[in-house]
Amino acid sequence: MTDTLLSPMSLLAELTHRCPLQCPYCSNPLALEPRRNELSTAEWISVLDQAAEMGVLQVHFSGGEPMSRPDLPDLIRHAVGLGLYTNLITSGVLLNEKTFPVLVEAGLDHVQLSFQDIDTANAEHVGGMKGAQARKIEAARLIAADGMPLTLNFVIYRENACRVPRMLEAAVAMGARRVEIAHTQYYGWGLANRAALMPTPAQLEQTTQAVEAARKEYEGRLSIDYVTPDYYADRPKPCMGGWGRRFINISPSGRVLPCHAAETIPNVTFPDVRTDTLEHIWREAPLFTMFRGTDWMPQPCRSCDQREKDWGGCRCQALALAGNAAATDPVCSRAPDHGRVLEVLETLPVEPPPFRYRRYTRATDEVG
Ligand code: SF4
Ligand code: FES
Repeated sequence: MTDTLLSPMSLLAELTHRCPLQCPYCSNPLALEPRRNELSTAEWISVLDQAAEMGVLQVHFSGGEPMSRPDLPDLIRHAVGLGLYTNLITSGVLLNEKTFPVLVEAGLDHVQLSFQDIDTANAEHVGGMKGAQARKIEAARLIAADGMPLTLNFVIYRENACRVPRMLEAAVAMGARRVEIAHTQYYGWGLANRAALMPTPAQLEQTTQAVEAARKEYEGRLSIDYVTPDYYADRPKPCMGGWGRRFINISPSGRVLPCHAAETIPNVTFPDVRTDTLEHIWREAPLFTMFRGTDWMPQPCRSCDQREKDWGGCRCQALALAGNAAATDPVCSRAPDHGRVLEVLETLPVEPPPFRYRRYTRATDEVG
């Protein structure tokens, strides 16, 4: 291995898969973790203690909807006490005049608030929850009024790509300091709905131009992160900054993963915080060592000058597109399987098919 082992920098704590929304682009696994399997408060506290001990600097509380967990303020308070920077990744539909002050009192540092669209009817169609948009706008108002740093996240797909200029205007009006205009990533339920979500080349061009124009117009007032769809790129993203290099993801039931989609990797045992320490998992677990560094790489990555920049791209995307997590990410134009990406783009339907929705039932779990 060419890389020395670094400490993890960020921890994504997926507190629950429960969520009042049902976005068809959700990157959570197709099989959700039921509430009865979720880590307890004491188990999460132990995870936070171990993470801080290992040198983790930031903790992102995520889900599902992390505000479905009543112990969220206790976990934030504990993380803050350990000196961790705390970020809440939320849909905002449970953030209101009663719940937000408790998070402020706990010491929360930052909120990332997601929107399905700026058009209310479409946003609520996509999220599957009536009245959600008004709740989100009220959540943004409360956060901005408090002065807490706020990032808005708009997920872009075929239906809403034309409204990026309105999203950016709204972000300024809502007092956000930062906005993410993030094209859908195709994992989990997003992969299942890829044909309905993937923008056309003309739409991608339009959204790129809208972002460039807004960067000039709102310079100094709003910072814009723009995430393009991988499938249209020539080179892959350095997913997670490289496998097992700086990032740890904990699933609701305590599985420790190098990324949020790693549970799709076949033929490997998933390490678990209930049975092993975070430090030992980070250093030794086969799931973390199997794609760490560059030794695992096939050609053309192995002799490519980009191999320590993009780390061969995304393992989960290689699995989804090439059927092999150890393949070069097919997004790369040098990859033997690049034709699979081109085929997806060349066969985009003229009319996108209807979304397939995740349905919660008593058999899977109740929504929190
Ligand atoms: Fe990255 Fe591999 Fe493509 Fe080189 S060949 S650019 S290392 S994915
Ligand atoms: Fe798993 Fe990219 S999402 S490595």
